[in-house]
Amino acid sequence: MSSEDAGVVITEVGPRDGLQNEHRAIPTAQKIELVDRLSRAGFPEIEVSAFVRPDVVPQLSDAAAVFAGIERCPNTVYSALVPNEQGVIRAVDAGAQKVSVFTAASETFSQKNTNATIDETIERFKPVVQRAGAEGLSIRAYVSCAVACPYEGPTDSDAVACVVERLLSLGPVEIDLGDTIGAATPDDIDRLLASVGPLVATELLVLHLHDTRGVAVSCARRAMELGVRRFDAAVGGLGGCPFAPGAPGNLATESLLTLSDSMGLHTGIDAEAVAGIGQWVRGVLAR
Ligand code: HMG
Ligand code: MG
Repeated sequence: MSSEDAGVVITEVGPRDGLQNEHRAIPTAQKIELVDRLSRAGFPEIEVSAFVRPDVVPQLSDAAAVFAGIERCPNTVYSALVPNEQGVIRAVDAGAQKVSVFTAASETFSQKNTNATIDETIERFKPVVQRAGAEGLSIRAYVSCAVACPYEGPTDSDAVACVVERLLSLGPVEIDLGDTIGAATPDDIDRLLASVGPLVATELLVLHLHDTRGVAVSCARRAMELGVRRFDAAVGGLGGCPFAPGAPGNLATESLLTLSDSMGLHTGIDAEAVAGIGQWVRGVLAR
């Protein structure tokens, strides 16, 4: 690793992935406070909320109010999850700077999560990409179940690569590989990156790990060794998908910061501040 290594870029997904599966309604003011604290800790990107069907994910139905209430730092990109054109219109109105569409490498998960086949989700993304591009927003595309599906079992890495190729044909999108249920081992990361790595420029490839069996950090380490430099994580290890039974928390940001540091990779994020935010948010959620 050269001394010129640009370090690790972390997208904090706690306010979206971390909160979407919480059953108790969290007051909007506390979500705003969470984003503001994360901004002050120096994250380059924060996934603030989701403009999905409010009746499907009620916890995030206040997405516009959260965007309206946050104090923006100039060095942070504030992004939102969107499933379709209606979502991107709402995200633009709210002032999101980036949108994240989401599909899967598993047909069953795609149906349960978005009421659409993989083909249909990609069709829905076309107007999203067009509108986001016209508004100057950057775009991320998640591929869930990149390692395993809660309904179909292990995922073939070539199937992931096939979805990734189709997403890249939409335009310059960032590709985010989701281990939705935290099934990955470091060997799975080897296989996944052998299939997908050659298709995607390093600066456009992101890994989104959930932590079921305490090996997400080992998976992130393997990915770093293989050259991956962009990761998602959630402060306090919050998280889970409502359509992935048993989906555990995301890789904890605190652990990813410790790992990056031990690998000599700079993040620009204040680890002490993040530890404090983790404690605070777990108190808010009565964990
Ligand atoms: P649908 O029912 O097929 O959509 O839902 P539709 O186009 O048929 O519309 C039905 C109704 O929904 C209409 O309202 C639309 O206006 C409304 P009506 O006319 O009946 O009153 N609607 C919307 N309202 C607000 N915002 C929108 C929107 N779209 C339609 N954007 C849809 C399809 C995808 C929209 C729905 O299934 C949905 O919202 N799903 C959300 C699923 C979700 O948020 N899952 C969790 C996030 S994914 C995840 O966690 C994985 C990830 O972390 C990576 C990983 O870990 O792998 C990203
Ligand atoms: Mg997730």
